[in-house]
Amino acid sequence: MPAAPHIIDHPLVQDMLADARDKETQPAEFRRLLARIGGLIAYEATRDLATDTATIDTPLESAEARRLRYPVTIIPILRAGLGMADGIHDLMPHAQLGHIGLFRDEATLQPVPYYERLPDNVADGPTLLIDPMLATGGSAIKAVDMLVQRGCNDIRLICLVAAPEGVKTVNDAHPNVPIYTASLDRQLNDIGYILPGLGDAGDRLYGTL
Ligand code: PRP
Ligand code: URA
Repeated sequence: MPAAPHIIDHPLVQDMLADARDKETQPAEFRRLLARIGGLIAYEATRDLATDTATIDTPLESAEARRLRYPVTIIPILRAGLGMADGIHDLMPHAQLGHIGLFRDEATLQPVPYYERLPDNVADGPTLLIDPMLATGGSAIKAVDMLVQRGCNDIRLICLVAAPEGVKTVNDAHPNVPIYTASLDRQLNDIGYILPGLGDAGDRLYGTL
């Protein structure tokens, strides 16, 4: 039985998702929405990160505090993942960033890798793999494969919208990778687009329609 994705059904997230889906929403607003929703999904996806106690000096006295135990790496899948990455980086400014470049061959729907730049210590802590669209799951699986190859064992997939088909293929290939999304949509259409979805996320972010 595949693990259910974590659906972030907070009313503010859902209201912003409605704006992102709207075909009238222009790239500047679309970028703002994806960054903001990205931060909110990441907030939920990092709820169980390990912390250590530390002592800090406030202006008044010493206090016990909690600090993240491990370095977090945010890894957008280029291009569209970039649209959510800044909002997540704002939330955890000390996180490091890695980049994976993949595009989906529109004829075969297979992922084509073209870039990989990851911090040397990427396997030392949790990795947040970012892509707004989980459609067939091919791109996400390829990116997770690349991270596993680098020794990562805490990989969390953050998407804006997921198709049931993609959730299943990711679960089948990588059952230990939890999926966090604002919506589990209905299905893919016959050319691999998510329904109802929001169209082509990269094109809507960067105006390449
Ligand atoms: C889109 C999207 C995902 C992929 C999802 O990227 O951002 O990476 O498709 O499809 P899949 O689950 O079927 O693999 P695209 O290939 O359009 O590249 P882009 O981000 O550069 O626009
Ligand atoms: N990639 C997108 O940008 N949108 C989809 O619906 C599917 C893949």
